Amino acid sequence: MSKAPAAGQTHDWPAMRAAKAGLRRVFDGLERGAERLFSPALNPLSQLGAISFFLFWIVAVSGIYLFVFFDTGIVNAYSSVEWISGTHWYHAGVMRSFHRYASDLMVLSMALHLLREFSLDRYRGTRWFSWFTGIPLVWLLYVSGISGYWLVWDELAQYVAVTSAELLDVVPIFGEPLARNFLTPSHLSSRFFSLLVFMHIAVPLMLLFGMWIHIQRISRPRVNPPRLLAALVLAALLFVSLWKPALSQSPADLTKVPSEIGLDWFFLPLYPLAERWGGWGLWALLLGVSTMLAAMPWLPPFRRAPAAEIDLDHCNGCNRCVEDCPYEAIRLVPRTDGLPFPRQAEVSSDLCVSCGICMGSCPSSTPFRRTAELRTGIDLPGQPLREVRESVIDAAAELDGPERVMVLACEHGAGAGRLGGTVGFPCVAMVPPSLIDWILSRRLADGVVVAGCSESTCYNRLGVEWTKERLAGTRDPYLRKRVPRERLATIWASPFEANRFEAELAAFAAGLGALPPPPQAATPPAAAENQTEEQA
Ligand code: HEM
Ligand code: SF4
Ligand code: SF4
Repeated sequence: MSKAPAAGQTHDWPAMRAAKAGLRRVFDGLERGAERLFSPALNPLSQLGAISFFLFWIVAVSGIYLFVFFDTGIVNAYSSVEWISGTHWYHAGVMRSFHRYASDLMVLSMALHLLREFSLDRYRGTRWFSWFTGIPLVWLLYVSGISGYWLVWDELAQYVAVTSAELLDVVPIFGEPLARNFLTPSHLSSRFFSLLVFMHIAVPLMLLFGMWIHIQRISRPRVNPPRLLAALVLAALLFVSLWKPALSQSPADLTKVPSEIGLDWFFLPLYPLAERWGGWGLWALLLGVSTMLAAMPWLPPFRRAPAAEIDLDHCNGCNRCVEDCPYEAIRLVPRTDGLPFPRQAEVSSDLCVSCGICMGSCPSSTPFRRTAELRTGIDLPGQPLREVRESVIDAAAELDGPERVMVLACEHGAGAGRLGGTVGFPCVAMVPPSLIDWILSRRLADGVVVAGCSESTCYNRLGVEWTKERLAGTRDPYLRKRVPRERLATIWASPFEANRFEAELAAFAAGLGALPPPPQAATPPAAAENQTEEQA
């Protein structure tokens, strides 16, 4: 490879790196399978955040429906739930099952989402925010679910309520021990039960608020899965709801200790531990794991590449970089330099992850210039456009053989680390389409391969999508019509798909040999080099 990638995002502890690589391999295998089964756009593992949002709405709607029929008093709570699952199973009972299974599935999708973001290393440096704000979501989801189990007031509810109260009593925050409420039936007041009902409504609302905060630092967060995927989730829930409807256990009886209880292993796996270890042991585990998770974005400290920088002389405030930045790191502000444009771009270095996507989107980022120093409106100090052009020239010199194919590779995909005729980028969308035009029109290569991450797993969230749209001519800056498409290929492949990557690359190179020689460039290169993308 001609130039080392600039982002420097690989710095990690060896054990942490090994854990991520192992997990990544597992996810990669599952995802490629899911892509083959459905399609890259429907890969559920690449949309776990969106699926979690969708499941939240299912839980909320089914919960509101159930609330209409639920008796919030301690005396009739159980019988009202029995009515829901008994005579009215075909509407209210199904809703109850939806409520339970969608909650369970939300635990699963959240856990997978956490593991996947970890394996992709998308939580360190300036990306700490979504990870850090995800930790309270785990707590809030668990408290929401656990408080739901109390309301049925069956033996499981009794077990959960008594064990939870004992756990809370370890922490001296309540004047009276909570467990006292469950000593005998006469101790348990309807007022206390109503408090639990209130909690089961208030905590999910806090969860929703937390989910909103969670996505504040990413632009265009995917909070809705594609319709077909949503329909599949609904169909799966309906199937399980009819096959194994959610039912209550025997009614709670505070005069005796429940003997055999069926636990929900999604929400309650730690309850048996509470019995075995006692309250303090479990609190130590929960707080220890939460603190470690919260500290992870800084374990180890992330070596940050310098943030993107604006060059006002080349910025006309067109807004393209603002539109394309996946991390809300750019905004337009009033002009400060007297040039005849109302606005200029401004980068927040606290939010910028140095992906370079903005450089690829700026209309000034064109190599068709022969100025002493090639400059653009927004550039990456670690890998400026000037150096990119030099790297391409170096890479062209490395090409040999009958068909000379240059690879413009994302450092997170299968092309990363490739030697010879390759230029690496922190994200494939850092490649301005005019660079491809320049390479082919200058005959620096016979063909160009744009090599990104796998189609549904872009490390920088939107890089693959923007690249596809730019090449298809549906997003600015687009690849000009004159560029011979038969000399351009895209390969979306993860680092574990090196064989497929090389096979597709070889097939593309072989295909080039069968093409007629490219027509002479209409404009002599010397003149073209002084033109901008719009002028060319
Ligand atoms: C209720 C649970 C959760 C929901 C609904 C949720 C939802 C989302 C959504 C919609 C996104 C944006 C996905 C995209 O468009 O690329 C996202 C990103 C993310 N989430 Fe979550 N999430 C949840 C829990 C968590 C947890 C527990 C963690 C980890 C502790 C976490 C860590 C992250 C990270 C690191 C990102 C990526 C940020 C980036 O790309 O820079 N999330 N989440
Ligand atoms: S490099 Fe550009 S696109 Fe990427 S995060 Fe920074 S400002 Fe946004
Ligand atoms: S894309 Fe370039 S010209 Fe447009 S606002 Fe951003 S830096 Fe300025």
